Amino acid sequence: MKIVLLGPPGAGKGTQAKSISNRYSIPHISTGDIFRKNISENTPLGIEAKGYMDNGQLVPDEVTINMVKDRLQDEDCTSGYLLDGFPRTVAQANALNEFLISREEQLDTSLLIEVPIGFILERMTGRRVCPSCGASYHIKFNPPNNDGKCDLCGSEVIQRKDDTVETVKERLDVYENQTQPLIEFYKSKNLLSVVDGTKAINEVFKGICKVLGSND
Ligand code: AP5
Ligand code: MG
Ligand code: ZN
Repeated sequence: MKIVLLGPPGAGKGTQAKSISNRYSIPHISTGDIFRKNISENTPLGIEAKGYMDNGQLVPDEVTINMVKDRLQDEDCTSGYLLDGFPRTVAQANALNEFLISREEQLDTSLLIEVPIGFILERMTGRRVCPSCGASYHIKFNPPNNDGKCDLCGSEVIQRKDDTVETVKERLDVYENQTQPLIEFYKSKNLLSVVDGTKAINEVFKGICKVLGSND
C-alpha cells in the first residue's frame, strides 16, 4: 500500500502515521523526521535544512525530492510506504507522480487529515516529541505515561524548536500557500480521501482504517 498523508501542521499526521505503519506493515517516511535526524547528526543536509526549518520555511524542492527518491528505493519500500510531510508543494507532487510512473506504480490514496486552523495552535504548542524514536505526545491530549519519558524507548521528550507561536503561524501560512493546493491536485486524480481529524486520536485512527479498508 502506498499512501500520502496530507494535512496542516499539527493535524496529527505523525501521530496517526505510527499506528498506520504498524497496522499495515509499511514504513513511515517522514521528511521532517529525516531532516531532524540529519540536524542532530550535523550532516551537510542537516546544516542546510536547519535554517529553513527553524523559520518555518520549506527546505528547497530539489534537496527534498532527491532525498525522498533515494529513500523510496530502499529495500523496505518494495511492498509500500506511508509518506508523512511529503509532497508539500506542487513540484514535489509532480516529482512523486513521475517517479511512480517511471516504475509503473500507483499511489493507493492520499489521505487528508482535516483539522480547522482553530485547533492547531494548542496542539502544536503542547506537543512534545521523542528525539530518539520520533514518537509524538501532547501535554494535555496524549501525555507520556511516565513523567516526560517516551513510552516506546524511555528517552526524555522535548519540545520542537519550530513549535513556538510565531513559527507555527509562519508554518500555517506556508501550508495555505504551498501545500493546500495539493488537495485539489489529488482530488482531480480521484486519489483523495478525507478523515475528520478533530476527534480523539483513537477515533481518528478508526476513521482512517475505515477509509483504507482491512488488510487481513
Ligand atoms: P514536519 O515535521 O513534517 O512538520 P509539519 O507538517 O509541520 O507537521 P507536524 O509534524 O508539525 O504535525 P503532525 O501533523 O505530524 O502532528 P502530530 O501528529 O505531531 O516538518 C517540519 C519542517 O521540516 C517543515 O516546516 C519544513 O521546514 C521541513 N520539511 C518537512 N517536509 C518537507 C518537505 N516535503 N518539503 C520541504 N520542507 C519540508 O500532532 C501534533 C500534536 O497534536 C501532538 O502533540 C499530538 O499529540 C497532538 N494530537 C495529534 N492528534 C490529536 C488529536 N486527534 N486530538 C488531540 N491532540 C492530537
Ligand atoms: Mg509530524
Ligand atoms: Zn522514543
